[in-house]
Amino acid sequence: MRVLLAFPLFQLLLLCQLLSHCVQHTRTYCQRYNERYACDCSAEKRLQVPDVPWRNLILSFNLSFNHIQNIAVDDFSGYVHLKMLYLQNNRIQSIHDRAFTSTVNLERLDLSYNQLTNLLTTWFDQLFSLRHLNLLGNKYQRLGQGFLFQKLAHLKTLQFGNPSLSAVVKKDTVGLKHLEELVLHGSALKQYEEGSLGRLGPIARVTLVLRELVERDSSLASKILRDVSSPETLLVLTNTTLISERSMMPFQEVKLKGVKKVALKYITITDSAITGIMKEMDRSNLSYFAMEDSTFSGHGNWYADTHLPHLETVFIKNLNFQYFYEVRTITYLTNILPFLKRVTAINCKLFGVPCETSKVLIRLEYLDMSGNFLTDPTMRETACGGEGAWQQLRTLNVSKNSLRSLVLLGNLFTNLHKLESLDLSQNVYFDMPERCAWPSSLHYLNLSASQLRKVTSCLPGSLHILDLSNNDLTVFDVALPFLKELLVSGNKFKSLPPGRLYPSLKILSIHRNALNMFSSIDLKEYIKLEDLKAGYNSFVCSCEFVAFLQFDVGHLVTLSDGRQSYICDSPVAFRGELVRNVHLSIFECHMKAAVSVLCAGFLLLFLVCGILCYRFNTFWYVRMTWIWLLAKRKPAINRRNDICYDAFVSYSERDSEWVEEFLVQELESTQPPFRLCLHRRNFLPGKWIADNIIDAIEKSRRTLFVLSNHFVSSEWCKYELDFSHFRLFDKGDDTAILVLLEPIDKETIPKRLCKLRKIMNSRTYLEWPEDEAQRSTFWCKLKAAMNSEECEGAA
Ligand SMILES: *[C@@H]1O[C@H](CO)[C@@H](O)[C@H](O)[C@H]1NC(C)=O
Ligand SMILES: *[C@@H]1O[C@H](CO)[C@@H](O)[C@H](O)[C@H]1NC(C)=O
Repeated sequence: MRVLLAFPLFQLLLLCQLLSHCVQHTRTYCQRYNERYACDCSAEKRLQVPDVPWRNLILSFNLSFNHIQNIAVDDFSGYVHLKMLYLQNNRIQSIHDRAFTSTVNLERLDLSYNQLTNLLTTWFDQLFSLRHLNLLGNKYQRLGQGFLFQKLAHLKTLQFGNPSLSAVVKKDTVGLKHLEELVLHGSALKQYEEGSLGRLGPIARVTLVLRELVERDSSLASKILRDVSSPETLLVLTNTTLISERSMMPFQEVKLKGVKKVALKYITITDSAITGIMKEMDRSNLSYFAMEDSTFSGHGNWYADTHLPHLETVFIKNLNFQYFYEVRTITYLTNILPFLKRVTAINCKLFGVPCETSKVLIRLEYLDMSGNFLTDPTMRETACGGEGAWQQLRTLNVSKNSLRSLVLLGNLFTNLHKLESLDLSQNVYFDMPERCAWPSSLHYLNLSASQLRKVTSCLPGSLHILDLSNNDLTVFDVALPFLKELLVSGNKFKSLPPGRLYPSLKILSIHRNALNMFSSIDLKEYIKLEDLKAGYNSFVCSCEFVAFLQFDVGHLVTLSDGRQSYICDSPVAFRGELVRNVHLSIFECHMKAAVSVLCAGFLLLFLVCGILCYRFNTFWYVRMTWIWLLAKRKPAINRRNDICYDAFVSYSERDSEWVEEFLVQELESTQPPFRLCLHRRNFLPGKWIADNIIDAIEKSRRTLFVLSNHFVSSEWCKYELDFSHFRLFDKGDDTAILVLLEPIDKETIPKRLCKLRKIMNSRTYLEWPEDEAQRSTFWCKLKAAMNSEECEGAA
């Protein structure tokens, strides 16, 4: 049987191996695909396009960052629903001219950063739905033979060009219209036919990578700028070097075309270039100017008297000033600054702004100087000591500087009567003074990540939003009647702030603290609270808390950080478990009650036991048993030598009359007298009675049981019987003599005296005759039994 089964299995394995071998040699499969029909085979060092199980279902196929060199005619056949195809960063040199004939629904195609030298019109013949096409970074010098994009009427985003592209002519862009975004890498252009990009309509966002082109051939750059510029366009110049004043001529086109928004990114720029641009752009429509991740290698000497009356927003971020300490730029901007409404200078190594400059910013509403080198003294200069600057300011951000004194900041800003938002976060204040002055308009204050250890009534009472996250606070008890949003996550709170101090609070964020729990009583103190984020605290998963969080909290607030962030910290058994998954038993939940009931139960049990024991002499029994056991374990002493009695008489106290009057008289008067051991006479006083019994039995040759109804009902006698019984058992000879004083109905002997019953059944016994005439026979029989001679007694 086993052999039979094994054979097909082996065959199957072989077949599988063979198959996989074949597959490896023809086409591998893409293993990573998900339920949304997206295959991701990026960065797998593949040399060929892999297959997928159901080509006609796949929507997205990512093959980027592989080593693919060629795209064959059938690599993408059958992908009728494919919408996104990513082939960037491969080594593709050639694509079959009909490679994309079946991907008719393709919307996004990325062929950037490959090694294509030739672009073929036929690739795009069927791609009517294509919206986003990226051809950047290849080796082509021309956009094919022309009419490359002719069929791509729906294209919205087009990216092309590379460091080798030498010419763009009109027929290259035939068919394109309504383009929304254009990226052109044209640093090596030698030929640009005017109008090539001009008819693409007003493009919302144009990004030009020109490197040295502006310097090398500014008239060619002018032609490009003239074509792509429009009042609706955001013009982004990236990776471009701007050096000399006279090569800034292309910006004239920007001005003439009425461009409102210009951004420079990854730019290297000099004083002269800035002077040139300012001259070219004088009195232009420019309203937005941005400069990001750029290097300014000048000293700030811009000899231009430029008016830019429409410029409202200046956004500068990550600017590398090489000679920042010499820069006195602001003096050349006196005709620009008064019009500015929004100024951002993030991470620009700014130490401060001269007061005269600040005073000129009469229309400024928004100022962001975060991530700079502002200190208390330079801030005082920047804000003109709190007198006269920024009268229209509504929002001020000085986050991430080196400010220290909250009193000073309050004094500097208290006269800004329109100031609503103030971000002072990520400075180091440590302590908060008891009193501060703030403008009464202040609604938003951000003091997060400022190493604050306590809060005081320095906080402005007018606040609507207060961010105190990531400090070292343990208590928050400053009454803020208008506060709507309070953020205190990342502190050390052990309990919720008292809700009655915040009657307007709607949002409370207190995650990552040390909260052990919170209850409905805590939450009900907040009259208007709607939204609570309290996850990632060290919750003690008590019954009340678990029940509250699982069932009741939803009626009071929304836990907007999701139940999965509420995790138990203790008890140890639940550590790390989600509170919503914890199930506590009734016993665990009513521990106190359960323990009380249990204790009471035990107490009662003990009491009952005690009573029962007392009632039934159990202690005595136990003790007897113990003694009995001890006796049993006693080493067998040489009894013969110890024998000092002929018989130990075991009798009930009630029968003592008979024993003393008849038995003792009779037996002790014989010659030689029998030596009898009577408990009344021979037991050692002071010794424990059980020991006495054992001793007596051990020291006697025999044990004489005087049986009567009294005996049967006497516990002592029963034990004497027991002891002698085990001795009988030990010795195996006749050591017990039974004398029946009165007839005993065996049935009346209680069951527990089974031993006696047994003995009476199994052994012969002597009966005390009522008739005096027969008594001599009785005595004879008894004496004989004592001596183990003949005349065995019989009933
Ligand atoms: C202030 O600047 C910091 C750092 O640039 C930023 O994180 C924060 O959001 C800004 N604050 C406001 C209110 O915009
Ligand atoms: C407060 O500032 C920090 C960083 O400085 C920022 O991440 C946070 O979003 C700000 N808070 C609010 C409520 O805007």
